[in-house]
This record gives sequence, structure tokens and C-alpha cells, in this order.
Amino acid sequence: MTADPSRRRKVMIANWKLNGCAESVEAWIETMTPLAEEGRLDIILMPPALWMERAWSRLAGHPSRVTLGAQNVAAWEQGAYTGEIGATMLAEAGARYALIGHSERRRIFGETDEMVSRKLACCLAAGLSPVLCIGETENERDAGETDRVLKRQLGVLEGVASLSSASALWIAYEPVWSIGTGQAATPDLIEVVLAGIRSHWAGLNATIDIQPRLLYGGSVSLANAASLIALEAVDGLLVGGSSVDPESCADLCRSLIRALD
Ligand code: PGA
Repeated sequence: MTADPSRRRKVMIANWKLNGCAESVEAWIETMTPLAEEGRLDIILMPPALWMERAWSRLAGHPSRVTLGAQNVAAWEQGAYTGEIGATMLAEAGARYALIGHSERRRIFGETDEMVSRKLACCLAAGLSPVLCIGETENERDAGETDRVLKRQLGVLEGVASLSSASALWIAYEPVWSIGTGQAATPDLIEVVLAGIRSHWAGLNATIDIQPRLLYGGSVSLANAASLIALEAVDGLLVGGSSVDPESCADLCRSLIRALD
């Protein structure tokens, strides 16, 4: 019997950015672990890197579906790169995933596609699953350049199949105009863009049978989360501002679990 794909497990990634505190990591995990044992929702916490091990030791006793990811990773494995944290270090601290190419990293910290490409290679070499973030700015959208921008950003994935651990590849569509603005993309736009990403992926890596998991992020909230996770094209949601407070995030996850039931 084949599994019904519409009943597949989906994921909620909590990207805390530069928020929270050491105690709130523990409160969040206490609140979220029981939820992760119900329903079809996997939960990934991406705390500030400093608290990764703390979160990891807190989770160690729980046979739950809460796992950890990093918000960023160095573009080099090791060396004279003051302030950076390498993929292997993050993996040793308990991370299984890492965001690469988040628009805040691109825009505020000047990260280029070349650096994103190096980060991708570092993640795969360290056994971290990369979550490649792509998205167009408001100006690019208004100029009709969305497709061109996304294809350029997806270019880092060309030839990724030569790396054996590419099976756990994730791509998050996060339009820059929707991040932190309260203006989520419409379901129609998300469906169209994710379908475009899938077909572009197939063209980039035609010879391999790997299907990246596709996420949406940008102003996901309690008001829209259930309808977004229900979209067939969406494998999960990347949530920033609405994910930090444990009670609010738990309410959001409950609405996702109900929507997936
Ligand atoms: P937001 O952020 O949910 O606060 O819009 C999402 C993200 O940047 O990943």
C-alpha cells in the first residue's frame, strides 16, 4: 500500500534570530516536546548558537521529534575566521540542520551566493542538512524579477548531487518583503513559486532522484499558519517572530497539528 502523500509529516522550524534568553530555551523545550509527540508535525528549534548545547542536553532525555538547527554556519571548516562557528562544531553541539543564505545574512552581512555555496558544501561535509533560503525583495518583485532572482539563488545547488548526503536538502522560499512585515505571501503565490523551484531543481540536477523538501517563511502567524501548512506544495514553515514565545509558539503548533490531522 502506498502512503497518501497528502498525509505526510510536515515541519515547523522556529528561527529565533537574535532573541530569547538561556532560560527561555528550557521553557520552550518543556512546552514544545509534548506537542512534538502528537500528530504529524516535526519541530525544529534554531536558537542562537550559544544555547545549542544547552538545548541539546535538555532534549537528550526526550524521545521526541524536537530537533535542533543552526541559524548560520561558517563558510570555512576551520581557520583564522574570528567569530565564526563551523559546521562540524555545530553538529557536535547537537545541530542537525543549518540555515544558509537567509535574507538577513545576505542583506545585513553582505553574504554572496559564492559564500552560500561554500556554506552548503561545509554543511554537507559535516552531515548537517542545509536549509537554503531564497527570496526576492519588494523592488525585485515589483520589477517582475522574482523568477530570475530565485533561479540565481538556486544556482548554488547545481551539481549538489555529487555529495552523497544531499538527500536531506531543504529549500525555504522566504520573500524578503514578507519577513517580519505581517504581510505573508498568498497561498496562490506560494504554490506557484514552489512549483517553479521544483521544476528548476529538476533541470539543475536532472540525473538524480533527490527531492528537496520545500518550506515557506515570512510573517507566518497563528492567523495564517494552518492554511499555509495545508498547501500540498508546502512541506513545512519557517517561523521567526511568532516562534520565540513558548506559549504563542505552542498555540501555533497546535493549529498546525490540527490542520495536518
Ligand atoms: P518572520 O521571519 O516569521 O518573523 O517573518 C521569518 C524568517 O526570517 O525566517
